[in-house]
Amino acid sequence: MSVVVVSGSPRETSNAGLLAEVAVKAIGAQGSEVKKFVINELAAKGCQACYSCKGKTEFCAIKDDLTHALSSVTNADYVIFVTPIYIGEITAQAKIFVDRCYSLFKPDFKTNPAPGRLAPGKKFLLIFTQGNPDATIYQKNLQSYLGYFKRLGFQLVEGVVAAGLAKESVLETRPDLVKKVEDAAKSLLQG
Ligand SMILES: Cc1cc2nc3c(=O)[nH]c(=O)nc-3n(C[C@H](O)[C@H](O)[C@H](O)COP(=O)(O)O)c2cc1C
Repeated sequence: MSVVVVSGSPRETSNAGLLAEVAVKAIGAQGSEVKKFVINELAAKGCQACYSCKGKTEFCAIKDDLTHALSSVTNADYVIFVTPIYIGEITAQAKIFVDRCYSLFKPDFKTNPAPGRLAPGKKFLLIFTQGNPDATIYQKNLQSYLGYFKRLGFQLVEGVVAAGLAKESVLETRPDLVKKVEDAAKSLLQG
């Protein structure tokens, strides 16, 4: 089994990162099976709209630290994407990853019933961390990103909102959220 974790949090000991670890454990992956990419630590550009991935090549033409992350996502069985909410949206770091995943669409993705380049059978977990205690307020964003990743070809997508968080460790303060993430990860295993 191979698992790729992509984190959009700039915080070194982020709750996003801690919840990603919870999901990895629940899936049962260990050691070298897990690759982690913290976008904040990478030299990564946003999409340059060169459209190479829609004609000349089958991958993103930009060569930077995200190149390895994108190829790892292509080869992974599970992708766990975690991001805090900043000003009502995913972080700028996380959005770079989302936009670069555009390269995973086939050239005729607008009309092709199987628009993504991903091989079948892959599973995807999206975790939002947020300060606001209302877990419903960014549901629209969550569903929109889940729809996008589903269109890229993930067979199963799950989303979890970890609401009402501050700097304190989610592991110590919010066993309910840890359980929520564990349950979502396990449902991916079974699906
Ligand atoms: C610049 C900034 C903007 C934020 N904007 C929001 C927001 O719009 N809504 C919200 O619920 N929380 C907001 N927060 C709080 C974070 O989402 C919250 O602290 C989150 O748990 C951080 O996740 P992390 O521990 O994974 O880094 C913001 C935090 C920062 C630093």
